[in-house]
Amino acid sequence: MTAFFLEAVFLGIMLFGASRVPGWLHTLATALVAFGTTMSAFWILVLNSWMHTPQGFELRDGIVHATDWWAIVFNPSMPYRLGHMLLASGLTVAFLIAGISALRLLLNDRSASVRSTFRVGVILGAVLIPVQILMGDLHGLNTLEHQPQKVAAMEGNWETGGNVPLLLFAIPDEEARTNHFEIGIPNLASIILKHDPAGVVPGLNDFVTAEGEVLHPPVAPVFWAFRIMVGVGMLMLLASWTGAFLLWRRGVDAMPRFYLYAMSGLAFSGWIATLAGWYTTEIGRQPWLVQGVLTTKAAVADVPAPLVLTTLVVYLIVYAALILAYMGVITYMARKAARGEPLPKDERVKGGEAMAVPGE
Ligand code: HEM
Repeated sequence: MTAFFLEAVFLGIMLFGASRVPGWLHTLATALVAFGTTMSAFWILVLNSWMHTPQGFELRDGIVHATDWWAIVFNPSMPYRLGHMLLASGLTVAFLIAGISALRLLLNDRSASVRSTFRVGVILGAVLIPVQILMGDLHGLNTLEHQPQKVAAMEGNWETGGNVPLLLFAIPDEEARTNHFEIGIPNLASIILKHDPAGVVPGLNDFVTAEGEVLHPPVAPVFWAFRIMVGVGMLMLLASWTGAFLLWRRGVDAMPRFYLYAMSGLAFSGWIATLAGWYTTEIGRQPWLVQGVLTTKAAVADVPAPLVLTTLVVYLIVYAALILAYMGVITYMARKAARGEPLPKDERVKGGEAMAVPGE
């Protein structure tokens, strides 16, 4: 509740107060919003992580009772998930700032604020992405320990064994329980997960019971979502390190146009990686809702399937519309500001400066 109040109270000042309150108050409001959202993230990820790695409870008559709140809050996957998610948010912002600034540089806006936000975005991205890759690797090792079936789906590995390749491409076929058109790097999955080329990596076939019950997630969506997340992460590494190098050698005024185009194309890449990460995590926990305790099937309420489908579709439409509107507004405002055109009255917050509005 504290987190929500902090966000709700100070968000208005942060968004609309830049030209109306003193600079220090605007900075304080922004810091408090950031603090509030981080607190929200902490508690959301505590709950979510507990569902992946539950502990600190006992089952009495089929009902979960908390026995140790510290163990519940600091459950084994919580530090990795929290770290990975906060870094994901930082990277999303870094690439948004760098991308929008790159667009404005392309439109010949060489103002001091654009040049400095471009530098900050690129350098923040370059600093955060290696930490994110390291954190992702540690997160994966933790998942291997607690949810090996999820890692088997991420790797598209059907049989438990050593010398497992890292698949760059494959079409997993759950009916035939195999992959088609595999392209992989020999031994690399074993090396990453076990630090040994011959290291034994769990296979999906270990998670089918003698009665034929499948206790692993749907393979293709997890396999692909994981590749999209890591693929975007690699693009971020390439883009931000190239940018940091170019900034060092040539400076912000001599950035090549192809680089500015590439960077503006990556402005919204953080959302793609973050969504793909959540798809990996949440589809990857199936068929469990709470790992080893409650299956999704057992938790399903008595709501008719068409109703659930309709709700899902409505949510998807609303959120898709919101994100498209957000992207559209940000790009529109960046283009207008770059051309020096005044923004309509309600949009006149620009980089902390009040803009000239005709007639005022
Ligand atoms: C490039 C190397 C990366 C690796 C090795 C990696 C690894 C992982 C793994 C193993 C998971 C699933 C963990 C689980 O469900 O138990 C995951 C989830 C996730 N990843 Fe990544 N990741 C990488 C890059 C990124 C990037 C660049 C972003 C975003 C900018 C990102 C955002 C997420 C998010 C939001 C989740 C879901 C929340 C969570 O479970 O932590 N990842 N990642």
